[in-house]
Amino acid sequence: SLSLLVAGGIGVAPLFFLAQRLEAGQIPFRLMMGFGSSDEVVSAEHVPFDDRAIFIATDDGTAGYAGPVTDLLEDYLKNEKRGRGSLSVFSCGPASMLKKVAAMAINHRISCQASFETTMACGLGACQGCAIRTAAGVGKAYSHVCKDGPVFDIREIDWERF
Ligand code: FES
Repeated sequence: SLSLLVAGGIGVAPLFFLAQRLEAGQIPFRLMMGFGSSDEVVSAEHVPFDDRAIFIATDDGTAGYAGPVTDLLEDYLKNEKRGRGSLSVFSCGPASMLKKVAAMAINHRISCQASFETTMACGLGACQGCAIRTAAGVGKAYSHVCKDGPVFDIREIDWERF
């Protein structure tokens, strides 16, 4: 199996920790990180992973792949010969990015979890401030990012209304 970690902006930080856990467990992964420009890229000394596991994308093309990290993922998937059942995607980043990653994972029939960032007022499941709509069949209309998440299977989310 191969874990594809797809991170944008501040979403890099949590996936870094996941990459460390996977590495400690000797579980193969690729960490794809998207930034706006080369001056935002996390420097190599902070990236204690095998070079071959690290993929960088910048929107302005000043470092690594030129374009959004979602395009990098799409290109990667085109060339990845492993069966889709042996791939898993883990993603964290801006809402627009998560939406694209989710669409891609569904399209390619790959399992995918995403970590969500929302406004949280109470953090206890009481204020509804962090509620996101769930997909049909989940058994409830909303999930709370604070209480039920922040990590969700992307197939539990209503992306049309996200
Ligand atoms: Fe209030 Fe989640 S932050 S319900």
